[in-house]
Amino acid sequence: MKVRDEVTADKLRGGFYTPQALVDFCWQRAASLIDGERTFRVLEPSAGDGAFVRGIARTADDLRRRVTDVVAAEIVPAEAAKAELSLRALELPGQVLRRSILPWAADTDEWFGLVVGNPPFVRYQFVSQADKAAIATLGGRLGLTFGGVGNLWIPVLLGSLARLEPGGALSVVLPTECFTGSSAGVVRDWLMGEFENLTFDLFPPGSFPDVLQEVAVVSGRRAAASAPTPADVGIVEHSADRRSWSWSFTPKAGDRSWTRFLLDPRYLAAIDDAQSLAAVSPLGKVARMEVSIVTGANDFFCVDDATVEQFGLRSWAKPLLARSKYAPGLIVNADDLREACASGARAWLLDFDAAAPDPARSSGSRSYLRTGIKRRLPARYKCSIRKPWYRVPSVRAGGLLLSKRSHLFPRLMLNEADAYTTDTIYRGDVLPGGPLSAADLVAGFHCSLTLLTVELEGRSFGGGVLELVPSEIARLCVVNRPGLGEELARLDEAVRAGVGPDDLVAETDAMLVRRGLLSPDTVALLAEARHELMARRLHRNAAGGREVDAWTAEAA
Ligand SMILES: C[S@@+](CC[C@H](N)C(=O)[O-])C[C@H]1O[C@@H](n2cnc3c(N)ncnc32)[C@H](O)[C@@H]1O
Repeated sequence: MKVRDEVTADKLRGGFYTPQALVDFCWQRAASLIDGERTFRVLEPSAGDGAFVRGIARTADDLRRRVTDVVAAEIVPAEAAKAELSLRALELPGQVLRRSILPWAADTDEWFGLVVGNPPFVRYQFVSQADKAAIATLGGRLGLTFGGVGNLWIPVLLGSLARLEPGGALSVVLPTECFTGSSAGVVRDWLMGEFENLTFDLFPPGSFPDVLQEVAVVSGRRAAASAPTPADVGIVEHSADRRSWSWSFTPKAGDRSWTRFLLDPRYLAAIDDAQSLAAVSPLGKVARMEVSIVTGANDFFCVDDATVEQFGLRSWAKPLLARSKYAPGLIVNADDLREACASGARAWLLDFDAAAPDPARSSGSRSYLRTGIKRRLPARYKCSIRKPWYRVPSVRAGGLLLSKRSHLFPRLMLNEADAYTTDTIYRGDVLPGGPLSAADLVAGFHCSLTLLTVELEGRSFGGGVLELVPSEIARLCVVNRPGLGEELARLDEAVRAGVGPDDLVAETDAMLVRRGLLSPDTVALLAEARHELMARRLHRNAAGGREVDAWTAEAA
């Protein structure tokens, strides 16, 4: 993850401006939501240089003459000044506040008839202390805890929406994580509780000039009383060539993500059917996966064979699978590790455990530790909270390994080599006392059902890279039948022989059908649904475009 100094100033403030065509689209949505003769005040919470303010001049006469005044905010004074000029050019009353919207929203008593804009997309770690304090106050005012919120757009949006009068409209550009991301659940629940005519217009990358990522325009009208439940939500899916499809769905409060509603109802029925089978359960019922070893300095504790040799570190070196690209199959065996080692990979983890010889007593290990001291590793946070700084905690190998980030899908592997892993590969084990073996779980894992739930539960990053955290892994649907492990050696060999990811999925599906665990029709629907969500993740987020291994998200 990047630190503040490595991120551009524009990125730190979420300073990407909305192209005119997208601004106009938002104003059209707004026009369709504001009733007849109603006059209204406009709030633009993060105005930049005034794209949405200038957009007023291009709206239909009828709408424009009903705007009574505009209040905008922009944290960068020079940009706020440009927005102010745009507002003066319109000859409309109003002001551009040269400050953060957040303390203002936490305190104001003003009401508005329309919120438009494109809130700043800034990761919470980069939000200023002053804004963090304002977010806490705002949360208190709205009766919300912003604890799990990962991005600035969420409090900026909710702080603004709280100032919308009943009948007032919302029309804003948001990242598509507003629809799919779990941390945006607070926004979806708020919208469901307060808004009617909610519509998500989803635009693929390239729909508008300069828009490289999929974006959503979210629009709706604040209900007079608490919105009727259950309320329908509309989706309009736009294609790059200006065609569109629309449908609606009825989410339940507390749904973790709405990703499933991107699917046709017959796919949703197939998922429900599969989930009701005795042979299917959440992964957390049969196994536990967890974050593996946290060294605090991988480039010091994970070393290649030459380093072990040079400093005489053999007594502390444990076999390491540093990256899943060094595992060519579904079973990780000793030969795989030997090959990785011979290729010069970091194939050893240094474990200066209390029960091992004292590294201070031999000259080679002592001088290796000195290289770490020279690099000031003892002062690094993770090293500084343990004694001695070089004793890595929780050094265990799991019987199961799972790649953390993936391109097509994560790979579950049987750890026959007792390999240790760090932060790119989760470790785990089947729950003790259950009928299922680790081999059973691995053999059935790469089927359309499980990998469809990977798409539904996972989060996607730049370039479409998919990541699962342990709580999401626990919710994946897996086939829980003992005996599948009999087929693991065959599947492993096929993968080692070069069978591609799609063929592995087809082969695993066929195995489940042959064993009577899933019906061919259900499997066919699940496979289609998975492809649809995967293609969407990969193509709609392709802007990152970096080269990745077909299976994992590691550099190829
Ligand atoms: C995505 S840009 C959008 C600008 C403009 N609304 C547009 O659509 O072109 C977000 C803007 O929010 C501003 N910003 C960031 N944090 C802010 C805050 N706490 N209060 C007000 N504006 C903020 C940034 O400087 C940036 O200009």
